[in-house]
Amino acid sequence: MNLYSIAVIPGDGIGIEVVPAAIQVLDTVAEIHGGIRFDWTHFPWGCEYYLQHGTMMPQDGIDTLKSFHQIFLGAVGMPGLVPDHVSLSGLLLKIRRELEQTINVRPAKLLHGMKSPLAAPQDFDILVVRENSEGEYAEVGGRVHRNGEEMAIQSAVFTRKASERAMRYAFTQAAKRRGHVTSATKSNGIAYSMPFWDDVFREVSQLYPDIQAASNHIDALAAFFVMKPHVLDVVVASNLFGDILTDLGGAIMGSIGIAPAANLNVERTYPSMFEPVHGSAPDIAGKGIANPLGQIWTSKLMLDFLGHEDLGEIVLGAMEDTLDDNVKTADLGGTANLKEVTERVIEHVKLRAEKGVSITN
Ligand code: NAD
Ligand code: IPM
Ligand code: MN
Repeated sequence: MNLYSIAVIPGDGIGIEVVPAAIQVLDTVAEIHGGIRFDWTHFPWGCEYYLQHGTMMPQDGIDTLKSFHQIFLGAVGMPGLVPDHVSLSGLLLKIRRELEQTINVRPAKLLHGMKSPLAAPQDFDILVVRENSEGEYAEVGGRVHRNGEEMAIQSAVFTRKASERAMRYAFTQAAKRRGHVTSATKSNGIAYSMPFWDDVFREVSQLYPDIQAASNHIDALAAFFVMKPHVLDVVVASNLFGDILTDLGGAIMGSIGIAPAANLNVERTYPSMFEPVHGSAPDIAGKGIANPLGQIWTSKLMLDFLGHEDLGEIVLGAMEDTLDDNVKTADLGGTANLKEVTERVIEHVKLRAEKGVSITN
């Protein structure tokens, strides 16, 4: 029996609704498999916690998380009540940094049963590998007064180590997929970081002669996501470019509500963190209508990382069966609520297992 201890941080807004849905799906998968079990430990950290305690998590929160196999997080943010730069830097970004989750993997794939807003999309299957620890998100800079002018200076930090690590990961993934890596750059306009990023990309690409490497400026690449996403395989991007591209990836899949993500500590020195691309969606929170598929697909990424790719395939398959049944939340143009979608996914997980879809590891 493999027992996985998972730290659960539902967080804020719809995080509190979609996390239990995905946990139900994973518990069903574990029950069917028989050889694995999840031990969930819930942490009530987030904006409510902040309003009571003045911090987003306790002082020893990071140390507490280190003792778990993985972390399963919903979303963070209560704009209006807690400033975003306070809530996000005190929880989500802090965990990413301190647990060295330096790579953020975000698939954007047209699922069976999904309707893309693109007019005539060909099948696309993109894997965005986002550098997750530095770049434009570096906490370097400040608000200053200079020559009587008030200004903010924000520096981006690009280390060879982190850039190379993200790129190597991208090439390794491409070797298991369609053999193509596209780098998002902006070296025509940004003087230092992007020419450096390009140099590192060129060097890393030479280590993988069997993989086709291409580089596109981020503005053109954003247009490719809309005009011809089917030509893209793996995309490697800096922290901010990857952030923006993956909401776009969600949009072309049909909704950001289904987009999954994995913050990986690839060296496995600390737990990785699995949380969807979307945020706490205050506009629909508490109504039971949020799409749980982003969190459920994210749970598939956790299964994959734990070495249970076959179980992950069952979860993704059950999601597609549910979409094929047209059991969809409002963001997908449907009338089902979160509970109905979750229940249907669980039914399909069971049906797939009964049909003898092999479960071997
Ligand atoms: P958001 O992703 O929360 O919402 C954007 C839009 O997408 C909204 O209209 C929302 O209703 C919709 N949406 C998102 N997820 C959905 C789902 N599962 N089902 C149906 N519709 C869904 O982005 P935002 O409005 O920019 O941010 C809201 C808060 O979340 C902010 O505080 C922001 O900083 C935070 N945020 C957190 C994370 C995270 O914790 N990983 C990610 C993004 C934003
Ligand atoms: C994401 C989010 C975060 C990011 C925010 C909330 C800090 O947008 O996970 O995509 O920019 O990384
Ligand atoms: Mn984002």
